[in-house]
Formats: sequence, C-alpha cells, structure tokens
Amino acid sequence: MQAIRIEGGRRLSGELEIQGAKNSILPILSAAVLCGGETVLHRCPALSDVYAALRIMSALGCKCRLKDGDIHINAEDLCGCCISDMLMRLMRSSIVFLGALLGRTGECELSFPGGCELGPRPIDLHLSALRAMGTSITESHGRLVCKCKGRLHGERIALSFPSVGATENIMLAACRAEGETVISNAAREPEIADLAAFLNKCGAKIIGAGSPTVTVRGVNELHGCEYTVMPDRIAAATYMCAAAATGGEVLVRGASAAELEAVISVMQQAGCKTAETSDGLFLAAPERMRAVRNIRTSPYPGFPTDAQAIVMAALTRAQGTSVFVEDIFENRFRHVDELMRMGADIRTEGRVAVVRGVKSLSGAAVVAPDLRGGAALCAAACAAEGETLISNAELIDRGYDSIETALSALGAKASRL
Ligand code: EPZ
Repeated sequence: MQAIRIEGGRRLSGELEIQGAKNSILPILSAAVLCGGETVLHRCPALSDVYAALRIMSALGCKCRLKDGDIHINAEDLCGCCISDMLMRLMRSSIVFLGALLGRTGECELSFPGGCELGPRPIDLHLSALRAMGTSITESHGRLVCKCKGRLHGERIALSFPSVGATENIMLAACRAEGETVISNAAREPEIADLAAFLNKCGAKIIGAGSPTVTVRGVNELHGCEYTVMPDRIAAATYMCAAAATGGEVLVRGASAAELEAVISVMQQAGCKTAETSDGLFLAAPERMRAVRNIRTSPYPGFPTDAQAIVMAALTRAQGTSVFVEDIFENRFRHVDELMRMGADIRTEGRVAVVRGVKSLSGAAVVAPDLRGGAALCAAACAAEGETLISNAELIDRGYDSIETALSALGAKASRL
C-alpha cells in the first residue's frame, strides 16, 4: 500500500509538461492489435493502466517494448483472443480490447467488467452494437464469449447514450468489417478523434470522429504506424486545480484550451485568469476563489465528469456555495467524505453535491477512493494547513505519471511513502 505525503499551505507556482492522455493511449493500444507490423507510440505516460494493457497484449502474443516514454508494438504474431480474469481485473477498461480482437480474429473471450468505484459499468451499448455487426455473444459465469462467423459487417448504429467506450469499441470492430458502419450519437471526446487519427494513419477509413456521427469504411488490413498520443486534458485540469486551490499559478505545457473549454469557463467564473500561450495553458488564481453555482457533468463538450472531483477540491475554500450535479456516473462523490476529513463543508444528496466554501482546510490522513478522487485529495492537500497523507496511492497511479513529482515541480512539498 503506497501513500503520498503532502505538506500543504504553500502557494503553487511553476510550469510542467503534461503527460500523454490515459484515455487516449488505452484505446490506441488496443487498436494496435488490429495492425500488422510495427507500431511506435510516443508520449506514453508511465501509468499502471498502460502496464496492464501491455500485459494483456503480451499475453495475446503481441511483442511490446516500453522505452523512455515510447512503446514499440508488433502484433503480427497475435495468437490469442482470450483475456484471463486476472488480467481483466488489472484494468477495468480492458473492454476496449473486445472490438479490436473481433476485428482482427473474429472471436474474443474476456471477463465482464463488473461494477467498480464509480458505480455499475454496464456494457449493453457495446454488446448490442457488436451483435448488430454479426457477433454472437454469450455471457456466462462473468465471462463474455464472442464469435462472429466470417467477417463482421458494417451497420448503422444509433447509440442511446454517447458512450465513449462503446463508440471506441464500434470503431475498432468496424475498421476491418465488411462495408460501412455509421455511428450516430457517437461520443465526441477528443480522445475519440485521437483514436481515429491513429487508425487512419494505419490505413483505416474513418470520418467524423469528434462529431456526433462517425463513419467507418471497412478495409482488409491495417499496418502499423508511428504516432504521438495527445496530451492528457484531465491531468492538465488537475494541476490547474491544484495551483488554483493554493491561490497560485501554473503553465501546463502541451495542454490546449479547445479541449478544456468547460473547465476553463468554471475556473474563470471562480475568478481565475487563464490564457492560452504558444506552448500551453496558463492559469492564475486569486488568493480566494468565488463559488460557482451550477457545475453539471455531461458528455463532451460539456463539463467532464473526470474533472468533477478535482474542481470540487479547488472550490472547497471558495467564497460562497458551489453546486455540483454528477449526471454521468451513479457513484462519483466518494471523495466527499475524505475532503470533509480535511475540513471541507459538503452535503450530498443523490447526484447533487453542495459545497459551502470554508476559510481553510487542514491536513489529515485520507484514503484515495478512486483515480480522480485521489487526485482531488492531492489538490486539496496542497491548499490544506499542515500534513496530509493520502493512502491507496496505487489508484492515483492508474492515471497519473508520478503525481507527487508533478506537484513538486510546482513548488509543493510532496513525496511518496
Ligand atoms: C470513459 O469511460 C473514460 N475511461 C472515463 O474516464 C470517463 O469518465 C468516461 O469515458 C466518460 O467520459 C476511458 O476512456 C478508459 P462511458 P467509459 O461509456 O467508456 C453508461 C477516468 O477517470 N453506459 O461514456 O466507461 C455508463 O454507465 C475514467 O479516466 C451504459 O449505460 O464511459 C456511464 O453512466 C473514469 N451502457 C455512462 O454511460 C454502456 O454500454 C458513461 O459511460 C456504456 C456506458
């Protein structure tokens, strides 16, 4: 069990290079399974979820090598299509391997990704789309056994909800399907466009990624390519919130305002000054921010659910009362109890959290409840008086490449135990 210790009460100021995006590198790694030959990925963050994905790919027969932030993959000799329960449990979002394996081998067996810290993680949209494209799927004893006779065929798929994972899985399965697939009400997150850009560089024919309608024309085969993964917009938001929580300032090199408009708008309403420079995003916060009345999470380009906990942490000391509505996941307020241990004043009722600003937070022993909740506790700890110990740091490592090193670069006294 690892912990992160932060001696708070110091105004953060500085700059840092943002890591590659977790939610882009993961689907891109599964997309590499579709490709013959060598793929080289640059700007790969050192995340436990990335290592888990590489373990899954190695178990499937891919050759993977991680060297100074680059990943070299050769999926030519892919020989498996089953992902063991143990490997599936390493990384919840391994469901994105489903579409790639079906596209490459026509079959796949993996565990049903059970509920996790954010609430149930259903995959009904994934399965109904893949069934429509010609896959027979049986669910038994927590395992999904998927097979398609011959090649998948293209379909018109209307998603009832713009699910990120379902959009990605359908794109992956459709790349090598017979004919054309049109996904309407597709997720519009920037990571979807990044995945499409990678796949098109490998020879796929995808248009409309990033818009509500994505069209994929199936091709017979895909080759490897060299690609640089997009910067992590949620990690960028995290360090902006940590600086803002301390009344500080930060230049996040590599981040772009276009991908964080909803978060930037909230931080500006809270009294922060922001600017996009030639090499990144700059934010300067007032000593004490103003509360923001209505922050409601929604699919991109709305306010990202992944930024909810970290913005809440930044606003715990704001002047006034902020209201958050978490409309994407059922159970994404598990950081609230831990923030209250640090002196925050937060009331939750179902999907609503009411945050009354307090003058100061105090360091405490807290437990990271999940990935973004853990990052939120780190941000709050930077602002809290005294020492905070955040245990369960492994959960934070799923999505942050050494968060304590990044915070220290901004002047925080952060270390890992
Ligand atoms: C992706 O998860 C991200 N993970 C999540 O980031 C992110 O919070 C989420 O998208 C929303 O932006 C990765 O990209 C690896 P969804 P995903 O399918 O694909 C419901 C983080 O912290 N739903 O868009 O699982 C679902 O229950 C992680 O980096 C169905 O009902 O998200 C949820 O309420 C957390 N049926 C909502 O849609 C389905 O078949 C959003 O899910 C699929 C989803």
